[in-house]
Amino acid sequence: MRTTLTTLHKMSQESNKIAMLTCYDASFASLLESAGVDGLLIGDSLGMVLQGQDSTLSVTMNDMIYHTRCVARGSKKAFIVTDMPFASYQVSSGQAFENAALLLAAGAQMVKLEGGEVVADTVSFMTKRGIAVCGHIGFTPQSVHQFGGYSVQGKTEAQSKHLLEQAKMLEQAGIGLLVLEAIPATVADKITAAIKVPTIGIGAGSGCSGQVLVLHDMLDIYPGKKARFVKNFTHGAASVEAAVKAYVNEVKARTFPGTEHSF
Ligand code: KIV
Repeated sequence: MRTTLTTLHKMSQESNKIAMLTCYDASFASLLESAGVDGLLIGDSLGMVLQGQDSTLSVTMNDMIYHTRCVARGSKKAFIVTDMPFASYQVSSGQAFENAALLLAAGAQMVKLEGGEVVADTVSFMTKRGIAVCGHIGFTPQSVHQFGGYSVQGKTEAQSKHLLEQAKMLEQAGIGLLVLEAIPATVADKITAAIKVPTIGIGAGSGCSGQVLVLHDMLDIYPGKKARFVKNFTHGAASVEAAVKAYVNEVKARTFPGTEHSF
């Protein structure tokens, strides 16, 4: 039986950690879910790790539809979330709804979009009309040029307060999951305690309801620069499946991320 958003909420209520990884094709979808991964994110990180671009900005709806179909064909069990690419949801709520519908038709159970107050009305429009939406705050890669490069967010008191407000606003708008990227663990802990929606951390410490990593980072096959929060799980693993199992076990046992992977 396929994992649903209700399953993930129940896991979070029972303090069972949610292990997610990015995934872009059918073979990995099958391998990752057999190794125990609860959720597969067809991330627009595919622009960097599959296409060799230096950001996620040029990824198209057609790219996301194609990779969502591939993952959905290879998967029977895991929860499937697909990123809405840059410029597919920012223009209007109607544009976002229509593009999300295409991703659901391709096999996604939930769509993810980046941002706080600026997307809250759009999230509300979509969730009121039956679309499961995942929020994403902290460092949001589609705004990399506005941030002036990769950087940890929420380090000052004012920024951390703003992140908490954004999380509450998105919860009010109806999100079902919230990705927290590159923020201090203490800030992620406050957000996780303040909202009922499960939080999925990437560089947000071990207190989140679950974790996600980019597959090519944790298998150490992405040639680009590694963020502090990335751990290479192939060390000591005899196969790709063993590396993925090690990731799942460490997330469930709360030993990943350690303080050395956190801010
Ligand atoms: O695109 C992606 O892989 C993501 C993760 C970094 C959360 O959004």
